[in-house]
Amino acid sequence: MASTQLSTDHVLGIKYLNVDDINLIFETAENFKEVINRPIKKVPSLRDVTVANLFFENSTRTRISFELAEKRLSADVVNFSAASSSVKKGETLLDTVNNILSMKVDMVVMRHPAPGAPAFLANHIDANIINAGDGTHEHPTQALLDAFSMREALQSDLAGKKICIFGDILHSRVALSNIYCLQKLGAKVRVCGPPTLIPKYINQLGVEVSYDVRQSLEWCDVANVLRIQLERQDIKYFPSLREYAQYFGINKSLLNSLDSEVVIMHPGPINRGVEITSDVADSDQSIILQQVENGVAIRMAILFLLAAKR
Ligand code: NCD
Repeated sequence: MASTQLSTDHVLGIKYLNVDDINLIFETAENFKEVINRPIKKVPSLRDVTVANLFFENSTRTRISFELAEKRLSADVVNFSAASSSVKKGETLLDTVNNILSMKVDMVVMRHPAPGAPAFLANHIDANIINAGDGTHEHPTQALLDAFSMREALQSDLAGKKICIFGDILHSRVALSNIYCLQKLGAKVRVCGPPTLIPKYINQLGVEVSYDVRQSLEWCDVANVLRIQLERQDIKYFPSLREYAQYFGINKSLLNSLDSEVVIMHPGPINRGVEITSDVADSDQSIILQQVENGVAIRMAILFLLAAKR
């Protein structure tokens, strides 16, 4: 029988979810996707629940997506962003969060530059924690919305499907969470990019590695194209953005020269003209905006399922 409860009280990473958890999140998200397309998009499911969104690192779509998900579930929402807080005055993470929790917060959505920060909090405070990205480690809600969007685009589950993640794998939390999630769902996963942006020991995760963009596009059903994370690159990993775009960028003439039509995805924000050209990002092959829409439904599902366990 399909499970009706998550196996965990927190969503810290895809590593800690099992296949039943992932499928339960998808099923719940399908229902919420229907809800957010109604004229009245709001349901009372989280009426007595208070959620704090703690963002210690920049974010646009993830923060807005969580906030919308919370509001559509009728939660009370407080927002915190490190740039305008007492963190700048030297307060520790635990002190900041304990102060917020004294105000009776039930759930915390946290983005933090330090890998493991959400797991640290989960060990110290009595609230459900959702990781909205911890440094270069994991970004579980992005991987779930990506896999959900792939299933929708392919109109099938992902067992045996071929997914290639392109670009800056080394600095990407989206890459690691995607690899865990897609493998748990039975997909074949490959990474493709310049050798300097592929972690040395990535084969230990059971993924294929390729440095050939055209051959990888020929191979895959879905291309998940990642942003070049310049803000995390303290040394030069490739000579110039122009050269990157020429050898590793995905453009329309390359796609048109392939035998089959690949689904194109990108978590955003896009460096237009670097990892992907505008005519690809805005084409019918691209499901980038569907990913954003699905993000709200996936986050509603996670908030709802965690609240159901309280
Ligand atoms: C990603 C992130 O922040 O990890 N973006 C996102 O959440 N939509 C990827 C990125 O910043 O490139």
